[in-house]
Amino acid sequence: PIVVPLVRELVKENITEIPNRYIRTTCLDHEEDHSHSDDYDSAAAKYDIPVIDVEGGLLSGESVLADSELEKLHSACQHWGFFQVANHGISSLVIDKLKSEIHNLFELPLEEKKKIWQEPGDMEGFGQQFVVSDEQKLDWLDMFYITALPIKMRKHQLFAGLPLQLREALEAYSLGLKNLNMILLRKMAKALKMDSDEMEELFSDCLQRMKMNYYPPCPKSQQVIGLSPHSDAGALTFVLQLNETEGLQILKDGKWVPVKPIPGALVVNIGDMIEILSNGAYPSIEHRVMVNPTIERLSIATFHSINPDAEFGPALSLIDPPHKPALFRRETVKKYYRNFFSQKLNGKTTSLDFM
Ligand code: SIN
Ligand code: FE2
Repeated sequence: PIVVPLVRELVKENITEIPNRYIRTTCLDHEEDHSHSDDYDSAAAKYDIPVIDVEGGLLSGESVLADSELEKLHSACQHWGFFQVANHGISSLVIDKLKSEIHNLFELPLEEKKKIWQEPGDMEGFGQQFVVSDEQKLDWLDMFYITALPIKMRKHQLFAGLPLQLREALEAYSLGLKNLNMILLRKMAKALKMDSDEMEELFSDCLQRMKMNYYPPCPKSQQVIGLSPHSDAGALTFVLQLNETEGLQILKDGKWVPVKPIPGALVVNIGDMIEILSNGAYPSIEHRVMVNPTIERLSIATFHSINPDAEFGPALSLIDPPHKPALFRRETVKKYYRNFFSQKLNGKTTSLDFM
């Protein structure tokens, strides 16, 4: 395994020159045409990520409201792959506690972090992902990765090494998201006219993993990238932005569009598994994270995936050859992830694509 230092430790040394391993040329090339222009403002409404109201909309007892919010969700999934959810049902107490605990986690001294570091050949704990060679460029972030569900897949030793307050906050957040994940998947099945039993079955023992991200400020922020462009491999990802620092951007109509943090809301994005399951109706979207020159940014991305022991492909209820052929092949979840994690992050990778 290739071990890389924490970026936070580099920054603490007050470096003036960025180590070569972090300096990007390519990712910033295609940014020049729009990153410093004001084309978002001039078309502001057009580039605002849709906001979906869960409890007051999707779950409303008034069918007119519920139907129109479902239509909004369907459109967001077809055309954006990203949306924010408001009134999502997860208590702000839980979220605030988690935010402060995660903040503390990244503030821990290096010696403490080393106690919950990735084991060789494993991704859980502090460290880096997607590092496959000594030569490759590195992202400007530190991360902590942990499997939350199913409970039988947890690394109990790693959990036990976490502060009690953090564990409590994680437990509550994990359950809240598991619930919200199912609510959204059921609504998506409805909008797609997919057999709801098929959806329930695939996610009955859902895999839930959390990636805590810490992006230190970078004095030469234009030279680095916080997180390389990629699409998520899982089904639905929920991103909690811990502070108001912008950084997350999605590729929309060939432009990198910022996802502005909305206090209290969660960002949701479609991963490759949903693209495959929906047989292409809900495409996953490429996104990346840029770094701020003076302010740190923290986020928690929680990935939900199909049952780890399952095999999946386009929903059987959505294919009907020869008119509606399957656009992706079937694969076991295990093989699918083995493939995803053996590469570096590099744009959109719906790996089961037939084409
Ligand atoms: C991601 O996991 O793709 C991005 C999370 C973030 O906004 O930092
Ligand atoms: Fe992502």
